[in-house]
Amino acid sequence: ESEAEDENNGTEEMETCEVQEVKDNEEETVKEEEETVKEEEETIEEDSQNQSGCYVRNPNFKEEDVKKVVESKPAVFVEVYRTEEIQMARLKLPILAEEQQIMEIINENSVIILAGETGSGKTTQVPQFLYEAGYALNRMIAITEPRRVAAISMSKRVGEEMNLSSDEVSYLIRFEGNVTEKTKLKFMTDGVLLKEIQSDFMLTKYSVVILDEAHERSVYTDILIGFLSRIVPLRMKRNDPLKLIIMSATLRLEDFTENRRLFKNTPPVIKVEARQYPVTIHFNKRTQPNYLREVYRKTVKIHTTLPEGGILIFVTGQQEVKTLVRKLQRSFPLGKAKYSSVQSVEKDSDEEKDEELGDVLRKKKRQKKLKLVENVDMDDFSIPGDHEDPDVEEEDLEDDDENDEVVVKKGQPLWVLPLYSLLPSYKQANVFKKPPEGCRLCVVSTNVAETSLTIPDIKYVVDTGKTKVKLYDKVTGVSSYFVNWTSKASADQRAGRAGRTGPGHCYRLYSSAVFNDTFEKFSVPEIKEKPVDDLYLQLKCMGIDKVVNFPFPTVPDLVQLKTAESRLETLGALENSKVTPLGRAISKFPVLPRFGKMLALSHQQNLLPYTICMVAALSMQEVLLETPIGHVDPQGLKDVRQKWRAIRRQWAGVGNSLMLGDPMVLLKAVGAAEFANSEGRLERFCDDNGLRHKALVEIRKLRIQLTNEIKMNLPETDVGVDPKLKPPTDIQAKLLRQILLSGMGDQVAKKVMMEELKEDEDKAKYKYAYRANNMEEPVFLHQGSVLKGSLPEFVIYQEIYETNKMYMRGVTVIEPEWLAKYVPHLCNLGEPLTDPEPRYDSISGKVFCTKTGSFGTQAWPLPNVEVE
Ligand code: CDP
Ligand code: MG
Repeated sequence: ESEAEDENNGTEEMETCEVQEVKDNEEETVKEEEETVKEEEETIEEDSQNQSGCYVRNPNFKEEDVKKVVESKPAVFVEVYRTEEIQMARLKLPILAEEQQIMEIINENSVIILAGETGSGKTTQVPQFLYEAGYALNRMIAITEPRRVAAISMSKRVGEEMNLSSDEVSYLIRFEGNVTEKTKLKFMTDGVLLKEIQSDFMLTKYSVVILDEAHERSVYTDILIGFLSRIVPLRMKRNDPLKLIIMSATLRLEDFTENRRLFKNTPPVIKVEARQYPVTIHFNKRTQPNYLREVYRKTVKIHTTLPEGGILIFVTGQQEVKTLVRKLQRSFPLGKAKYSSVQSVEKDSDEEKDEELGDVLRKKKRQKKLKLVENVDMDDFSIPGDHEDPDVEEEDLEDDDENDEVVVKKGQPLWVLPLYSLLPSYKQANVFKKPPEGCRLCVVSTNVAETSLTIPDIKYVVDTGKTKVKLYDKVTGVSSYFVNWTSKASADQRAGRAGRTGPGHCYRLYSSAVFNDTFEKFSVPEIKEKPVDDLYLQLKCMGIDKVVNFPFPTVPDLVQLKTAESRLETLGALENSKVTPLGRAISKFPVLPRFGKMLALSHQQNLLPYTICMVAALSMQEVLLETPIGHVDPQGLKDVRQKWRAIRRQWAGVGNSLMLGDPMVLLKAVGAAEFANSEGRLERFCDDNGLRHKALVEIRKLRIQLTNEIKMNLPETDVGVDPKLKPPTDIQAKLLRQILLSGMGDQVAKKVMMEELKEDEDKAKYKYAYRANNMEEPVFLHQGSVLKGSLPEFVIYQEIYETNKMYMRGVTVIEPEWLAKYVPHLCNLGEPLTDPEPRYDSISGKVFCTKTGSFGTQAWPLPNVEVE
């Protein structure tokens, strides 16, 4: 009781502090302010209960429950030997009390939806129930996760709980896994299972498929639900039943249950009550624009003024996590406890030891740099992509005069841990451990901790309310990231994390008005937010003729499907709505179909390493800088720009025949940067030549990924990421332009003369512009393009963007004759073409014919057809 009082005092103090800060603007008394806060809290709490049932109850675990569970346990077919410690921990999970009932329903139905609050034990326990009931005796049990982290960490955890090795409880994600012939429980990413359906439609290896985290609505999980809704009845007909268990947080289940396209009869829904304590929500009065500064301030306050209990902080990305962790670690030094002492306990393989060693080196390096990063500028956060290089970012953080950092030497130490998807899993595991004696736990996380992972003993949640959204460019499909408000449902999920072990508090760093008026109710399913070209092709390849009739849980918009179909027809991946051999080849690459086509056609003349470089570079944003980072005086700026442009022209080639265009600049830049990297001077090289260092680092990762993928699909190809890639020969360069055309054939522009109207009509001037396909307005070459000034007749572009005019980006010169071959439907051909042979090769690299002749390993003969 007295603790509760303490707590209230603490809260009051906090609110008081804040009120004083805003007093200048709002002349209300502290008391009134507080009442407002209370009111806000109350309404929201009711609200959330209606929306997502976030604040469910059923408190205090009682000893009798354990007995009840033990008595009602269903018959065990396969014995599992668990340690007593594990067994006690399991018995505290609400789902254990429901085992009997859950197994009865599973036994009697083929499709089941299991909804339960995060942390109730779905992911770790249901596979064990099934195992004990004998479902893994002859076949495997599949568990899919939208996130790689979850697939790995859950397989480890379940293996530990069951006392089974990774041979039997295994995982499989792209490029990595430990599945063996003995595997019984197979955790995998949803994309991996979708790939398996392509080769074994009936999923004959499995007796049960569990789709976990279905509420996240990842595209692949959605598609899997669609497929499984058909596979399950088919397996039933074969007298070889397959069970489907859809597991989800208690969010918007109607998309699955009330969707008649999916299931004829509503599948039974099992709801697991979580033992959830009340969580008090505290809104900020004001929504501070700089949420990172605010989150730091708030955490310091909680730690210095409020009673014991772990703190969980939600920010949007890996870089934010790391910076905040560093800042908090510096503010609250540990004293006797050491981060390294706990981390060294975990290593259980050589690989991890190496990582450890790398860490030590990095730490040393960091200490040297400490001066530089001492005052982190919280205003200056860039929004990073998913793949960050750990060593790069520190240089990016500039000194900050206004130092808001505190250093607290006395008082309770703060045990600060990072959590994000790409963190090595042995470090992720730290959040599940007890902090050292006398320390308060503080986890800084991305939304990984929202539903996939449950951290024990969290009492305070600090929620920035932000989430990083991936936006896809409609033209190129290139993705970009930006930070946006999350949804109400996900904010409630975050708040719920504070009530797992006792009453908790959630501090939202935004006002209730923003929450009510700006937040969407639910996050939009991923399938609605991205171009579906690749998915469309994938489904077509799997024999789904009418994609629009596919049983999607949420159907993509008709226009999304239509544009996808027409773009794929243009690419030659579809013909009369049927997949071509080329389409099949394209579908094997993990990039956009237009880039996949480029890769598929590069299987000759040693082009693959170059195409891989180009595709990787074209997929990245802002590789070539326009202005230097940091301050430069105007004259200096002009000089630097001129120098960079000269370098780029040189990269593009000299003389008319070699002025190929901007992608060639990218290719040469990547090649040269790789060389500089092998000599350990990449950064310097980037600075000198106007390249964005981070982009180059990311391009390298994507190159490796694409190369691996090609090796997997085409084991006979000899392709690697060569640091000393020679520049392409003239013939290769020409072929590369044709390859680019093959992928961007729908984005052609032709030079036109345009009258530029001046005020004085006599002085009407003419100037050149371009007409692009399907575009009303003229488009222009930008100053930054290496082709500016040479004005070629025909070009292809990667993207059109708008500033004061419409500009083309990523422009390549093409020869008009090529159009007849690569985009014949855009051409008015003089003579009808007669040869009915298929036009393209499949990836096997065998001979292929075009309408005008065949091309194989020789140079491609170009038809001489007139083009209008
Ligand atoms: O899937 P769901 O959110 O329902 O729960 P879960 O992931 O199965 O987690 C059940 C419990 O196991 C939670 O209390 C976790 O904290 C705990 N757990 C753990 O202690 N260590 C792990 N590596 C994974 C889960
Ligand atoms: Mg789970």
